[in-house]
This record gives sequence, C-alpha cells and structure tokens, in this order.
Amino acid sequence: MSDIPSDAPSDTPLPGVFQLTPLNPEFNDDPHKLLDRLRGECPVHRDTVAGTFILTRHADVRGVLSDTSMWRSPERAEPEATIQRAILEQRIEGIRMSEEEARSGILLMDEPDHMRIRGPFAKALYKRVARCKGLVQQVVDQWLDLVDGRSEFDAMNDFALRVPIDVIARILGVDESRLTEFREWSEGAILGLNPFRSEEDTQRLIVCTNALSEYMGNLMQRRRAEPADDLTSDMMKLQAEGAPLGDGEISNNLQGLLIGGNLTTTDLIGNAVWLLLKHPGELAKLKSDPSLINSAVEEVLRYESPVDITGRIAPRDMDVGGCPVRQAQSMFMSLRGANRDPAAFPDPHRFDIARKDAPHVAFGGGLHLCIGAPLARLEAQVALVTLFRRFPNLRLVDQDAKPEWRSMPFFRGLKEIRVAT
Ligand code: HEM
Repeated sequence: MSDIPSDAPSDTPLPGVFQLTPLNPEFNDDPHKLLDRLRGECPVHRDTVAGTFILTRHADVRGVLSDTSMWRSPERAEPEATIQRAILEQRIEGIRMSEEEARSGILLMDEPDHMRIRGPFAKALYKRVARCKGLVQQVVDQWLDLVDGRSEFDAMNDFALRVPIDVIARILGVDESRLTEFREWSEGAILGLNPFRSEEDTQRLIVCTNALSEYMGNLMQRRRAEPADDLTSDMMKLQAEGAPLGDGEISNNLQGLLIGGNLTTTDLIGNAVWLLLKHPGELAKLKSDPSLINSAVEEVLRYESPVDITGRIAPRDMDVGGCPVRQAQSMFMSLRGANRDPAAFPDPHRFDIARKDAPHVAFGGGLHLCIGAPLARLEAQVALVTLFRRFPNLRLVDQDAKPEWRSMPFFRGLKEIRVAT
C-alpha cells in the first residue's frame, strides 16, 4: 500500500482529451479533480496524443470563443490534430445524403458560409421560440400527467428525456402521427455524437439518420407546396424569398436543431432536478421565491454543464494565455473547467441558485454561440417550475445514492433519477 497521501501533488502526467471524458472512471466520478489540477498546473495544456491544446481558465476560454476571427472547420486544422481529422474522416458508409447535405452543418463551418446559413435559421428560430411558451407548457404538462398518481417515477426517462424532443418536433412541424418514429430516429441519430459507439449503435445510427433525412426532405417538399405554421415552412418561405440556401443545407440544419438540442436540454433538466433535490436548502429558496428560476437554471448550466468542450482552430500564430499557439493548431475549450474557475466565480464548487454576475460559458460563445440557448432555457424553466409545483413533496428515493452518470463522451447527464412523490 502506498503511504503517499492522496492529495499530494501528483507526478502522473497531466490528463489529455481522452482522460477528460466519462470513459475515464475518475473523470466520470468527479471531473473537477482533473480539471482543477489542469487549470492549476498548466491552464493552456498541449495534449500531444490528440494534437490539441486544452484550455481551462475562464478568461482564456472566453477570449478565444469571443474572437470572431477563429476557425471552426476541422479541414483547417494541422495534420497533427487527430481528433479534428477524425471528425473530418468520419464519413459513415451507408448514410445516404448528398455531399451538400452531409457537409453543411453550421456547427463545424466557417465564414462566410456559416453566417449565410445561420442568419436565416436564427431569425426564424428566435421568432418561434419567442412565442412558444404555451407549447412548452403543454408538452411538460402532458408528460407530467402520465406520472401523476404514481408514488415513484424516473425523472430522467419519464420526464427530462421526453420534453425536448416533443417540443422541437412540434416547432419543426413533424406530423402528430409520426411523432413516435421521429423520437426513435432522433435518439438513433444522436449516436453520431458518440465517437466510441459500438458496431450495433453504428448500424442504428445509419438506419435512423437515413430515415430522418428522408423524412425531412419530404416534409420540406410538402411545406414548400403547402406552408403550415412551423419552422420548416418558415425556412422554405425564406428560401423562396431569396435567402441563398440550398435544400441540403436547410435539411441538414433542421436535423441539426433536433440533434443538437435533445440530449443537451434533457441533461440540463435532469441535472437541475438532481441538483435541487440534493440541495434541499436551494430548492426551498426557489420554492419561496419563484423569481429565482432564471438564475437557478443559469447556475445549473454553470455548475453541471451539459456539454464538456467546444473547439476552435488558430487562424494565425497567436498568444493564448501566455502560451504560443501556431496557425492551424487546434484548441479545445473546457467549458466545464472554465465554469468552475475560482478567478471568475467565487467559491466555484458551491451550488448557489442566487449567484449573481456569473457569466458561464455553457453555451459556448462568439459566432458559434449555441443557437438553441433561448429554447433550452425556456424548456428548463417551465419544466422545473411545473415539476415542483405539481409535486411539492418530490424527493429522491435514496437521498444518499451515488449518481450514475452516463458515459457519453463530451456530455454530462444522469442515467436515471428515481424520485418519490
Ligand atoms: C442546455 C442545452 C444546450 C447546451 C448546453 C448547448 C451547448 C452548445 C454548445 C457548447 C455549442 C457550441 C458553441 C461554440 O462552439 O461556441 C452549441 C452549438 C449549437 N447548438 Fe446548442 N446547446 C443546447 C441546446 C440546444 C438546442 C435546444 C438547440 C436547437 C434547438 C441547439 C442547437 C445548436 C446548434 C445548431 C449549434 C451550432 C451553432 C453554430 O455553430 O453556429 N442547442 N450548443
């Protein structure tokens, strides 16, 4: 047995990107042990295996994210940037899509194409989100009706997992009769975000992605011929009015709204339910002052960010936090690490729903700032207020149970949350 105290400075190598995923049990258990160490010892760390820098200081992460000259497209990364290269080469045999459709997701695109596509999407989406509170409430109520009367349920699978898909499907205009299939396809397509999926998962991914793409193509044709009150019709109308968007670009990014927004918002709602039930004092504060709901959701985003990292590529030789970074080198910004930086957030490991001036980076930033942030916030706010109003005695079945975090790389969410009513 070693007689070295467990909190002694470690001479083990600093963690790289692969150790900073939930596939590493130590990270899955407590990501902040590794992230705090990295920030303390080497805040702009070069991971030579993944061929990328990893940034953990809030000021550096914010600085890079808000720099609009940064590149995002993996094509621009140097050959040593193995993860960026892997993203690029990850064309999966069996997925039937035009080249245009396959390559036009705004998440990994640079200017001027990124804004050419993002602009009209953002315009149409924000307009819809601004008036969709009633729809979100209806979806939330509908799922809570199904668990009403039960003494126990799983707040993750019976609730948090259900709301975001239904909301976005309705915003997009998916036919009521196809909602079940649509949910299945979305869950399958989300497997595309997991680079470590099994062969069986890859087969499911192919089937679901093809079905989703075909469905979206058909929906677009139908809405072009006969518009309805939904986002797909909005996009067809903008295209007809002259917005320079190809059909493949519209289809890819409509699917992107679905895929980008589901797991993340599910985890936001799930993490919030878990954190509030684990911190009864904070929950009591929220119940006695419901106007805290906005800052409560922001604190969950900061404290248990659903997305781990985002990436950028240096457009020129530059200095990042005192460290030289060369043109075409890759940078991964640890959003989770930045959100617990003591230089930005006093007492960062304390969960405080009334925290003020807490500029977290859970939605990234700059030109690529999450387009779905207003929707995610709205869904989480309505979901939490309604859940705790309808179930005022809600509690964890086992208050001391160790949380079981899912092992999907770059996302943080729970497998289940057993609650008693
Ligand atoms: C809590 C929920 C969510 C979190 C934590 C989240 C997080 C993120 C992050 C970190 C990025 C990358 C930003 C960057 O690189 O600077 C992003 C981009 C994006 N998100 Fe979200 N997201 C959430 C919900 C949503 C929703 C609901 C939608 C769709 C309705 C969505 C759609 C997108 C899209 C399309 C992008 C790419 C934007 C671009 O590159 O211009 N997200 N999100």
